Amino acid sequence: MKLNSYPLLLTSVAFSSALSLDPTNRAKQIASGAFSYYTTQNAGVGLFPGALFWESGSAWNALINYWFLTGDTTYNTAVQSALQAQSMDGFQPANQSNTMTNDEQAIWALTAVSALERGFPSIDGTSYLSLAVAAFDSLEARWDTTDTDSCGIPAGGLRWSPYPFNVGYDYMNTLSTALFFQLSARLARYTGNVTYTETAAKAYNWLEKSGLVDASGAVYDGFQDYSSSSTSSSSGSSSSSSSSTSCASSSNINRIQWSNSALALLHGTLVLSNMTTEPVWRSRSLTLLSSIESVFYPASPSTVPATSTNGNASVLVESACEPIGTCNSEQVAFKGLAARWLAWSSVAAPSGMNIPARVASKVGGSASAAAQRCANNNGKMLCTGRWFDASGSNVKPGDISGNTGFGQQLSALEAVLAPLVNGSIVLERMGTRAVSTTNGTAVATLTGTASATAMKTVGVSQLSGGARGARVGDLSALIMLAVVTLVM
Ligand SMILES: *[C@@H]1O[C@H](CO)[C@@H](O)[C@H](O)[C@H]1NC(C)=O
Ligand SMILES: *[C@@H]1O[C@H](CO)[C@@H](O)[C@H](O)[C@H]1NC(C)=O
Ligand SMILES: *[C@@H]1O[C@H](CO)[C@@H](O)[C@H](O)[C@H]1NC(C)=O
Ligand SMILES: *[C@@H]1O[C@H](CO)[C@@H](O)[C@H](O)[C@H]1NC(C)=O
Ligand SMILES: *[C@@H]1O[C@H](CO)[C@@H](O)[C@H](O)[C@H]1NC(C)=O
Ligand SMILES: *[C@@H]1O[C@H](CO)[C@@H](O)[C@H](O)[C@H]1NC(C)=O
Repeated sequence: MKLNSYPLLLTSVAFSSALSLDPTNRAKQIASGAFSYYTTQNAGVGLFPGALFWESGSAWNALINYWFLTGDTTYNTAVQSALQAQSMDGFQPANQSNTMTNDEQAIWALTAVSALERGFPSIDGTSYLSLAVAAFDSLEARWDTTDTDSCGIPAGGLRWSPYPFNVGYDYMNTLSTALFFQLSARLARYTGNVTYTETAAKAYNWLEKSGLVDASGAVYDGFQDYSSSSTSSSSGSSSSSSSSTSCASSSNINRIQWSNSALALLHGTLVLSNMTTEPVWRSRSLTLLSSIESVFYPASPSTVPATSTNGNASVLVESACEPIGTCNSEQVAFKGLAARWLAWSSVAAPSGMNIPARVASKVGGSASAAAQRCANNNGKMLCTGRWFDASGSNVKPGDISGNTGFGQQLSALEAVLAPLVNGSIVLERMGTRAVSTTNGTAVATLTGTASATAMKTVGVSQLSGGARGARVGDLSALIMLAVVTLVM
């Protein structure tokens, strides 16, 4: 289930003490606030109580970045234990498998890749590479190979749910495909294995061909796949008049745009711009970035739907829900992923593209704005999710993005870490660095691609069916939101 309580509605959100701190100390306080959600009532090693599976996976990635950028090792042991505890079958632990979606698994896999790229110390016996590769293999096996569907969209893509018995199986999902794309791109860079480059190209090409990424760089949410199964009458379609009748491919696409999907793609296209000489990756990057700038860093109120608050060209806004106060407990965490991938894009991109200069004000402005939305509460620095109106005066009743919560905290943590990412950082590649143990002693050098086979201790066939996903309700909510957004 999702986080269901937001006990701390902050009434005052002017935090001069937070603002006067240097960025590292600010990150330290917000990381401590994030980790406070873990220690109170452990839901299982590596899982934050009440959080979605992906949110926990993303939190560990944030804490790996935190360690790398601040040198503070406070959370390293917890990160190591989490990655080990949830690693089964390529991050498909048995008690998540009924509800887990492809995007969630990919988020955990990317956490393992971050550990590799940043040289995060491994626990003896755990190969982060084998974990990421195991997840890659299972996602790749789910790539849709059925015929072009009756709506004219070419075969390909990842569904939202991996399992036919779950809602979301009949939804071709951009985020799942985009994360798989980024995972492929980063594994290609880390390993030098061309299989991953080809897979990344396949994924991006399909996103374009299907219309989920359009010529202007807009990144849409997904579409209902009517050809897939008998479950297509489920969830969202009943709440959306267009999706239950029309099969024209262009009107079938759910055109809501989320920051995490767009930035997931941008990060991957920049990685590939660095790795290959194919100009297509640079042009795709620049097209995506232009769209991201206008959609998620809106310059004026008129570009933020239905709000009288100030847009600010340097502050990240979850435009589909934040201005209208409808972000749910999951959607408030999306900006964290977006802020992370924008910041690390500066490291990934070839220097000739001038990405750091282009994104600097957005990285810095979002960090500053997010920090202003945090307050000390009984010794914990807790943050809210609505950054663009820093005064807090426009928080609407029932707007959970104006309250504190784990998702908001993750987004704030990523935002304040982002300015610490700089152009001198060089990411690791396989074979270029000694692997360290928990205590930092170098014991081995990576030489080859680890086998994923050993991780596959629980097969999909062993899973019991029937349970509806934790996010079953979200698909209809999301489609309803899309409808609301379109009519405005
Ligand atoms: C899930 O598995 C972990 C061990 O990995 C365990 O600690 C936790 O209690 C389990 N949770 C549920 C709901 O079964
Ligand atoms: C860049 O970031 C790295 C890692 O956090 C840090 O060691 C280094 O001092 C930074 N360099 C500059 C010029 O800020
Ligand atoms: C490249 O990656 C693929 C996919 O994981 C794997 O099957 C293949 O063995 C790898 N090739 C090498 C040379 O490691
Ligand atoms: C790619 O990035 C590396 C640093 O990780 C850098 O040395 C190299 O010059 C870059 N290549 C291009 C084409 O920008
Ligand atoms: C946008 O927000 C940033 C960070 O809060 C602030 O420094 C800047 O002055 C704002 N710009 C405008 C035009 O309001
Ligand atoms: C560090 O760990 C390695 C391998 O577990 C061990 O051999 C070594 O003695 C440890 N070093 C210290 C200083 O604890």
